[in-house]
Amino acid sequence: MAIYAGQDFFTPGAAETVDLISRTFGLDERSRVLEVAYGSGEGACRLAERHGCSVLGVDIHPLVKFTARKTAVRVVRDRVAFAIGDGGELPVRDGVFDAAICIGAPSIVGTERCLAAMRRALRAGGMIAVSDWVWCEGKVPAEAVIEGIDPRLLTLDAYADLIRAAGFEIVSAEALPRSAWDDYYEPIRANIAAIRAEHPDWSKGQIGDELRIWDSGLGPAWWVYGVFVARAV
Ligand SMILES: C[S@@+](CC[C@H](N)C(=O)[O-])C[C@H]1O[C@@H](n2cnc3c(N)ncnc32)[C@H](O)[C@@H]1O
Repeated sequence: MAIYAGQDFFTPGAAETVDLISRTFGLDERSRVLEVAYGSGEGACRLAERHGCSVLGVDIHPLVKFTARKTAVRVVRDRVAFAIGDGGELPVRDGVFDAAICIGAPSIVGTERCLAAMRRALRAGGMIAVSDWVWCEGKVPAEAVIEGIDPRLLTLDAYADLIRAAGFEIVSAEALPRSAWDDYYEPIRANIAAIRAEHPDWSKGQIGDELRIWDSGLGPAWWVYGVFVARAV
């Protein structure tokens, strides 16, 4: 997690995705929002602050102490709650949420199981927003594929088809501009430089592969961050 130190989000374009949700979901004090894979809890806090909605975040990693402090500082403790759980087996009742979001994580949870779990939690007509790593075209060269990333090479259209198959109609599907990745990588590069200054043997792992491929030009040519808004049917 040190590579994300000092950052509110761990996903390209995440702040913009939260803004898109704010503009399009029509959230208010009565809205119940589910956030799958909430990360630092920043998105949940922003939505609760802006709209007075209640938000339940579910993430498999227990950042709960940190996020509980954050909700207290942000004065949204009465509206935002965080739970530990698997995004594919959400510990919630059926059909109780008005909106469900998963920023930068469906393919990490498992895209189909994540979408199915979100659909189950939503009432008919409820909204979802998901963002994920997608490819410009289906035939990506092996050198641009990152270990740990969904190897099926979904394009924006193929991803939208998966969302439809899970019981949603697509409202919008857009690819973020290249700057979303550059902005995402910039603080990560600074954090890596700081870590390596203290620990020269530190290995960069997956993020090292990403940065290398990005800098080679293959990343910008083949990777896109997709943001989808859809309605439960
Ligand atoms: C790329 S981060 C995105 C976090 C946050 N949504 C954001 O945009 O900053 C991926 C998140 O998925 C969570 N995660 C991984 N596997 C999960 C699972 N099976 N169920 C729920 N959360 C999971 C991780 O703990 C991490 O917080």
